[in-house]
This record gives sequence, C-alpha cells and structure tokens, in this order.
Amino acid sequence: MRRDADTIRQFFDANADGYEARIVPAFRHFAESVIRTAQPLGHEVTLDIGTGTGILARLIASRVRHVTGIDFAPAMIEQALLTQNANVIFQVADVHELPFEADTFHLGVASFGLNATRPRRAFAELHRVLKPEGVLAFHEWNVLHRLDDKIIEVFARYMVDEDDAPPHLLKIRHFIRTPRSWDNILQEADDFKEVLAETGYVEIQVWEDAPVEVVMPVAAFMDYKLAWANRQAELAAMDEFTRKDCLDALRSMLQDEVGTDGNIHYAPLLFRVRAKKG
Ligand SMILES: C[S@@+](CC[C@H](N)C(=O)[O-])C[C@H]1O[C@@H](n2cnc3c(N)ncnc32)[C@H](O)[C@@H]1O
Repeated sequence: MRRDADTIRQFFDANADGYEARIVPAFRHFAESVIRTAQPLGHEVTLDIGTGTGILARLIASRVRHVTGIDFAPAMIEQALLTQNANVIFQVADVHELPFEADTFHLGVASFGLNATRPRRAFAELHRVLKPEGVLAFHEWNVLHRLDDKIIEVFARYMVDEDDAPPHLLKIRHFIRTPRSWDNILQEADDFKEVLAETGYVEIQVWEDAPVEVVMPVAAFMDYKLAWANRQAELAAMDEFTRKDCLDALRSMLQDEVGTDGNIHYAPLLFRVRAKKG
C-alpha cells in the first residue's frame, strides 16, 4: 500500500512544474463547475481535497469563509504556496489520514482530487472531518472522451517498445496501466450512492453529465494534453524524428476535430456528486 502511495505521489510531484501554466487553463473551468455543484452559502469553512496547485481553493475562496487546500504531493503544494490569498491556506496532507479534528469543515470539495484514492477510506475520513450536515461535493472522470481515445491511439503508434523504454518510463507506464481501486469500486452512479451511504452520507445526489465545455485552439489543447508527466516521458523517450511525426500526427488529428469557430470543443462525461454527512 505504502509503495503504491509513493508511486502516485511521485507521479503528481512530476506534474507540478508545468501544471499551473499548461493544465490549469483547462482545469479552471472544471473547478468552477465543482463550485456550482457545491452551492456554497458564504459561511463555510472549506476543505479542497487534492488541491494540486490550488485552482479550486482560489476560485471558491470569495464564496466561502475560509479554505484549506490539501495535497499529498509536496511539489504541488510548493506551487500552490506561490499564490497569495487572504483566506486560503495550503498544506501537505493525505486524504486517507487527515490531520484535522472531527467536525471541522462545513464543506469538502474536490476537482479530480479523489480518483487516485481508496474511496471507502477517503470518504470515511472526509465524513469524520465534516461537521454534521456538512456537504461533500466533487467530480471525477466517467468514460473517456472521444478525443482522449484518439490521443491514446496516436501515442500507441509512435511510443517506444517496452524493450527500448528507459526504467523511468516503464515505471510510469506501469502506474498508468495499473487499475486504480477508485475505478474498480466506482464504475456506475449506483456504486457512488452505495459506497457513500455505507460510509455514512445522506441526501446523495449523483449526476452523469458533461457540465463543462473547454473551448481552446489546437495548440493550447495540445499543450494541456501533453503536459502530463506520462506524455512528457513518452515524448522524451522517442528519437527526434519519431517525436516530430508523433506531434504532427496529433496536431493533424486535432485539426480535423475543430468546430466552425476553429477551436477544439472538449466536454468529457463526469460523475458529479453532492452528499451530506448524516
Ligand atoms: C488531477 S490533480 C487535480 C488537482 C486540482 N484539484 C485541480 O483541479 O487542478 C489530482 C491531485 O490529487 C492529489 N492526490 C491524489 N491522491 C491524494 C491523496 N491520497 N491525498 C491528497 N491528495 C491526493 C494529487 O497529488 C494531485 O495533485
């Protein structure tokens, strides 16, 4: 278990550097959607789980009393701490074992911050730190969007064979391919309802929809999709000519997908959840 946690943390640490510049321009729209799901009233002492570089914490800060953003990847928190917010603090913490008293928060929010966790343990721990009737609101990925499938197909054509892959890339591939406990346990809306009810939540609402449409030029969309550490490692392992061919193929595939406005329109299906501590 500890080795798994270390691998997950190292993966996210490796994403921290370019995260704010390359991933947040897309992810900020998803963070805004979590705020709509959470419906804060203004008085909430709030926990942002898996805060990353803190985009959701910063955006919700003007709508609640106080925000604590936690992440177990120190390099992510280092980036978050570079931002200044009067009523936001960031700290390194693991959602499976939170360093907070019981009944501390009115609201827990997460934008893609939970999919690498053990859901029963994470939900139980969040239940402990929420105040009675406290709200947990988050979203996570549902089935892959068509464009994500196509990006994976293009990479599959150009990535180096297993025998030629450096150890660092093999480790990342193993991490990406290993099924997560989250995905094994939470495959359908009813699974979320069941596991949340088991861990003490009530008034559980689960939506399967695409509440966000990211609209971006091809170059910006490519930059976002290539920023992830696994894609960076795949590109770095290719020789210069293969890398160029791979990037050209991606660009051309995406160019065929632009709408009449010349932009990519990306609206992935999510599981959106809102529940209360019973
Ligand atoms: C995909 S990122 C999302 C970051 C941020 N919420 C956003 O919208 O940009 C997922 C984050 O969850 C964090 N994370 C994963 N497992 C965690 C755990 N057990 N405890 C705390 N943070 C965790 C990762 O380190 C990573 O920063």
